[in-house]
Formats: sequence, structure tokens, C-alpha cells
Amino acid sequence: MSEVQGAKLGLNADRYPAPAKINRFLHVLGREGGYHRLQTVFQFLDWGDALTIRSRTDERIVLSGDLAGIPPEQNLVWKAATALQQKRLQGPLPGADIHIEKVIPPGSGLGGGSSDAATAMVVLNRLWGLGISEKELCDIGLGLGADVPVFIHGRACFAEGRGERMRDVSPDEGPLVLVLPEVFCSTAQVFSRPEMVRDSAAIRFEEWPQAVEQGRNDCLPAALASQPELAHIAHELGQHARFVMSGTGSSFYLRVPTREKMRTIAGLVSTVSGQVVTTSVTNLSPLHMQLGEDGPATR
Ligand code: C5P
Repeated sequence: MSEVQGAKLGLNADRYPAPAKINRFLHVLGREGGYHRLQTVFQFLDWGDALTIRSRTDERIVLSGDLAGIPPEQNLVWKAATALQQKRLQGPLPGADIHIEKVIPPGSGLGGGSSDAATAMVVLNRLWGLGISEKELCDIGLGLGADVPVFIHGRACFAEGRGERMRDVSPDEGPLVLVLPEVFCSTAQVFSRPEMVRDSAAIRFEEWPQAVEQGRNDCLPAALASQPELAHIAHELGQHARFVMSGTGSSFYLRVPTREKMRTIAGLVSTVSGQVVTTSVTNLSPLHMQLGEDGPATR
């Protein structure tokens, strides 16, 4: 039941943001090869995890920080760094020390693990001087998780397929209220529920603004069925405003016109559930902003 002020993602020479993403809508068109075909618009929050990354003189990848008791070899950041190491064509294998500060809860639909992996890839590509193209980084990233490519790309986009076919768009940016219920939604479980809506009609690219306006998330019925407590929270939030679920849940957000409105809504929903974060949504990822990029992540 706490309300926190979304701390701006920290800037520091070797501490890099791994922001959260939101889905402004999420349409599920069908199934293909164990995955679902989606249409969505991604944007980034000025709130999320942070990674401190330094090169090592030996070839080890050493993780520290918030590792949730999981062996480092199972961490997406370790897998991402190891996958990049293999791309070094000549000279000794480079290594890195990576310290992870986690803020984005796992199972919240905000892409935390994927964002951590993407930040490691974009930064190590530079630190190690690999010169790997954005396209190739995204191909490697997609093998780690469906949300990794959009974080590598770093710009708001209309995405299709598993989320890897991206076309840049510029939805409204600004203040946002994020609600983080203390509920873990497993992406695989939500996608496999019978309540899952899997037959939405594809929209044309030009129709993305209307879809954003509608804010429909086809995963909502399945997420609510998978976690009955979440259905209660969604109902309560709905009494205050039209909140939208991100990804496969469990987080909900509301775009608001002003910071004053943001504070009012945050106060109203602070009694509903979990943590309420006041932050803002952007079309350029805070990672790419810090790296001074508005183009491909490899420049
Ligand atoms: O790629 P990610 O690790 O996020 O996906 C976890 C699981 O969620 C996949 O193994 C798959 O079962 C399901 N999924 C899906 N369709 C998607 C994304 C994920 O069915 N587009």
C-alpha cells in the first residue's frame, strides 16, 4: 500500500538504465510455433532497473546485486553477455563485472529481465568494441526473450510477430501512474489459459493511434482468471479510472494529462493494492537517452 515517487533512472558513467516497457495495447492474432503472434505498441518508462557494467581484463562474467537467489548462469544478463562474448572474432575473450539493481518486479508484464539483458548487450557491444549491428543484437536477444529486441531498439514502436518486427511510432508521452500488485503473472501460464483471446483481427499500421486510444489487452481475461486476486484489484482500479494492463500482467497503468492529476490518481488508488509508482512514459528509452542516441543502438 505504499506510494513511491518514480526515481528518475540514475545517470553515471558506468551505471546504465534498464527501463520498464509498457504495452499501450496488446492484440493476439493467433498461435505459431509455440508462440503467439501479436500486435502492440511499446513505450518506455522513466523508471526501472539499473546495471553497473565494467570491463574485466580476464574473460569472466561476474554478476552481483539483486540476483534473487538464482544461479548466475540462469540469469538472462549472464546469458546475454555470454552470447555476445562468442561474437568476438579475434583477440582474447573479454569479460565484465555487472552489478544489477532490481526495481521492476518479475511477473509484472513490464519486461524487467528482458530489459536487463538488452542493456547488457547494448553496453557490452560498445565496451568490447564488437560493432554488432542492431539487427544482429535483436536476433540474439530474441533467442533470450520476446521482449529483448524492443529494449535493444530503444524507440517506441508498433511491433508485430513475437514483438521483433518493429516500426517506430510516436504516441503521447508524459505523466503516468503505475500500479504494481503483489501478484506474479507467469507469461507462459497466461498465454496457455483457455480464456486467452487468440483470434483478434489484425489492424493496419495506420490504425495504431485508435488502438492506443482503445487500450485493449487481449491477455486481460486470461491474466485475471490465472490470478483471482488480480481480478479484484482490476475491478477496484476500474472504479477510479480506465487503467490498462501491461503485457501479460500483473501491472496496470494510467496515462494522465498533468502531474497534478497523476498525484491525485496515485493518492486515490494507493489503497487498492501493492505499490503505486508515479513516473512518465517516453518514446526514447532512458538507456538510449543516456548513451546519446536517437538511432540504432550500435552507433
Ligand atoms: O519469450 P518469453 O520468455 O517472454 O516467453 C515466455 C513464454 O510465454 C514462451 O515460452 C511462450 O510459452 C509464451 N509466449 C507466447 N507468445 C508470445 C510470447 C510468449 O506464447 N508472443
